[in-house]
Amino acid sequence: MQRLRAGVIGLGVGERHIHGFRRAAAVDVVALCDMDLQKQSMAREKYPECRMYTHADDLLADPEIDVVAIASYDHHHAAQIVKAFDSGKHVFSEKPLCLRDEELRAIKEALSRNPGVRLSTNTVLRMSPRFRDLRGRIQNGELGRLYYAEADYNYGRLFKLREGWRGQIPDYSVMLGGGVHVVDLMLWLSGRRVVEVIASGNKICSAGYGFSTPDMVVAILRFDDGMLGKVTANFGCVYPHFHKVLIYGTEATFENGIESASLFRSRDRDVPPDRIDTPYPGIDKGDLIPGFIDAIRGIGHAEIEEEDLFATMEVCLAIDKSWREDVPVRLGSA
Ligand SMILES: NC(=O)c1ccc[n+]([C@@H]2O[C@H](COP(=O)([O-])OP(=O)(O)OC[C@H]3O[C@@H](n4cnc5c(N)ncnc54)[C@H](O)[C@@H]3O)[C@@H](O)[C@H]2O)c1
Repeated sequence: MQRLRAGVIGLGVGERHIHGFRRAAAVDVVALCDMDLQKQSMAREKYPECRMYTHADDLLADPEIDVVAIASYDHHHAAQIVKAFDSGKHVFSEKPLCLRDEELRAIKEALSRNPGVRLSTNTVLRMSPRFRDLRGRIQNGELGRLYYAEADYNYGRLFKLREGWRGQIPDYSVMLGGGVHVVDLMLWLSGRRVVEVIASGNKICSAGYGFSTPDMVVAILRFDDGMLGKVTANFGCVYPHFHKVLIYGTEATFENGIESASLFRSRDRDVPPDRIDTPYPGIDKGDLIPGFIDAIRGIGHAEIEEEDLFATMEVCLAIDKSWREDVPVRLGSA
């Protein structure tokens, strides 16, 4: 197979995607796109070998690009993904893939009418050594049977709702924009399927910002085997950016901490938990790209395959429907 040619849209976190491609085998970043002229001049200096576009559509129409990384604003992803597929390009999209059910349907349809193209996304907590270690322990039975899990996305960056593009997107979703990371983590760690969600939200922290949707959303998840979960997207918290994760099994309980994690193997207060020092988060935002490129080349598996990312998106969209309509939402055919 010839070397692949990559393009990157959006040069915020998209710059990390450039570095991810550079760590992958047999792919060259040949084109970049940002609508911001200052970003363009920065990129021309740093990446002189790349063609530069102002309009994403022009990069997406470039026949000399095989794979595109989409790191534009959340509400631009869906249309760009569909256009990329329809011009035969593989897509590594930033989360969230889209903001609405009908956009998710359009992405699935575009994928099925373009067999051979691949899609992955950047719910990169799966690459964290802390959570990879935890998943290994769950899989080898150390925690016993999982029956309850909590995962809180404590964003700790309220200013981003007031100052940046997030607060300007009509109907910005904190669950799709941030909580998606911990929803994906919970599905991946448990290996289970969610059958029902019930959610609620408030916007007390961002009162007065003119922000139209909740900055805090909490959801209870019911899994196919009876396990329960709770996830939050807590954008206003007075707390550092942190993934607060607690996994309860019949044999042990895991608790993530900022310095280290703990594994409680006893109900006795006098028995200290095991300390787990694997790095957290210990990731670079481009870490999923080399595996995705290997999958495109047919020499490996993407860490996040299409069915995983669709499952995560369906849970997040169901959570948003639940708080919006104040109803429990069932998923799939269950
Ligand atoms: N996976 C992660 O951990 C992670 C972390 C941060 C951001 N993100 C996601 O990455 C995306 C970008 O966020 P960011 O923090 O980099 O924002 P940012 O504001 O730092 O950078 C975004 C850049 O993209 C450009 N841009 C946006 N839409 C564009 C379009 N349609 N065409 C051309 N240029 C466009 C902007 O001009 C800007 O330079 C968002 O979807 C966000 O949710 C993911």
